[in-house]
Amino acid sequence: MPDLYSVEEMGVHDFGGGPGAAAGGLAAAAAGAHAGHGGTPASAAAPASSVVEPAAAAATTSVADLVDDPQRPADVRVELVARVSGRPLPDSAPFAGYTLNGSTPGPTIRARLGQLVEVVLENADVPDGVTLHWHGVDVPGAMDGVAGVTQDAVMPGGSFAYRFVVRQTGTFWYHSHQVSHSQVVGGLFGALVLEPAGGPRTGGGGVSASPVTETDAVLLSHLYPGGVATIDGVEGESRAPAPPGSSVRVRVVNTDNMTLPVWVAPAPFRVLAIDGSDVVEPGELQDVRVVVPAGGRVDLEVVVPASGAVRVQLPAASLVVGPDGSAAPTVPAPTGEFDPLSYGAPAPLPFDASHPDRAFRYDIGRLPGFLNGMPGFWWSINGQIIPHVPMYMVAEGDVVVMTVTNASGDYHPMHLHGHHAVVLARNGEAATGSPWWIDSLGVAQGDEYVIAFVADNPGIWMDHCHNLPHAAEGLMTHLAYIGVTTPYRLGGASGNEPE
Ligand code: C2O
Ligand code: CU
Repeated sequence: MPDLYSVEEMGVHDFGGGPGAAAGGLAAAAAGAHAGHGGTPASAAAPASSVVEPAAAAATTSVADLVDDPQRPADVRVELVARVSGRPLPDSAPFAGYTLNGSTPGPTIRARLGQLVEVVLENADVPDGVTLHWHGVDVPGAMDGVAGVTQDAVMPGGSFAYRFVVRQTGTFWYHSHQVSHSQVVGGLFGALVLEPAGGPRTGGGGVSASPVTETDAVLLSHLYPGGVATIDGVEGESRAPAPPGSSVRVRVVNTDNMTLPVWVAPAPFRVLAIDGSDVVEPGELQDVRVVVPAGGRVDLEVVVPASGAVRVQLPAASLVVGPDGSAAPTVPAPTGEFDPLSYGAPAPLPFDASHPDRAFRYDIGRLPGFLNGMPGFWWSINGQIIPHVPMYMVAEGDVVVMTVTNASGDYHPMHLHGHHAVVLARNGEAATGSPWWIDSLGVAQGDEYVIAFVADNPGIWMDHCHNLPHAAEGLMTHLAYIGVTTPYRLGGASGNEPE
């Protein structure tokens, strides 16, 4: 990699069979994109002509200008101060980590649909600098929190104001996207709950003192350095008070690099939402474990029995939901696994994925070669090691189909920023359940997923493995809108190092 470089110089532009030039405006490019392209999603492959340079005359927009109304006052305002800490968890063994407002995880931020959220991030003393990325929230391009792509890292003494209007509801999280492979594990993250306009609410402000309401509990799972397994920063058993017979939405967030199995006993449960999108007609489940990929979320509905409590279990921690003092059994993880591909009821998609404007491949492999001059056996995308990976180029309004395969010998939780994609098929088997919307998709060795989304959020968006050391080892690329540029730089003197 060059010492100091722009993300725009990274990779090989891949137009996925759509037009490459933005001359005449992005809308014109999108409108013309249907011509000569109509493969079925499962077989769609980019023709060789897909690598075309955009016309030099194209109008450009800086990613820094992609913001929500700067004049609008905030409805929810939160200040977060990042610090280094030698003992971030006061009740656990010390380790070198971080805090936000003196604790880790940072406070749970709650807001409602339509509200403008403003989070001011201050860096007290984190030497590498920090940012905040709103994982799963399709924020405006300038607010994505990726150091060197959408902003400069906030250095000690500095601050940055994130502002976005809430356009989704569901369970999300935030984390640093500067040196993320060490800052996230060390504690720079927290939960973000976006509620319907009239939905349940904790406390009066934007930050809830307790993560739990009578109908809603946040289960933020994190494995800190040294193997400290926690729920909301607490080791072992946590409790969510709830009366007998009540139904509780347990918002499970996997903030780790590895998959998180979750199971419930002794009562049946439902999966109400995946990655912040509601499941249509979720059926009752029993004796299955739900496997949440790194970065992913599931909302579980559990019902408190008439006597006793229900236990939501993780491998090394659990959440007991029920009245104070009530007990729930501990059971081993069920061998059966929940499968979202066939769960819930089908519903029409908001776009026609059978006639995509662009079709991309994201083939994950592993190759011997050099990364930053280091010989090794590195992750590859479409047969190339970073920086020669594809830069997926789209225009606003495009329907995009992407085929993701994995022949790398390892498991990869893939995360696309700024968009939600729907799973069309897995290993040749079409999805038959509720539309399965994802922003974090676990792709095992040998898997092939066909996913689709609408390019409806201009910007330059990371598309990477959320096993964050893998991203730091090169399993990352970008989805970029034709004509969107960035004034920020990566590497060298910029100090920006998003992975
Ligand atoms: Cu949760 Cu690119 O990140
Ligand atoms: Cu990976």
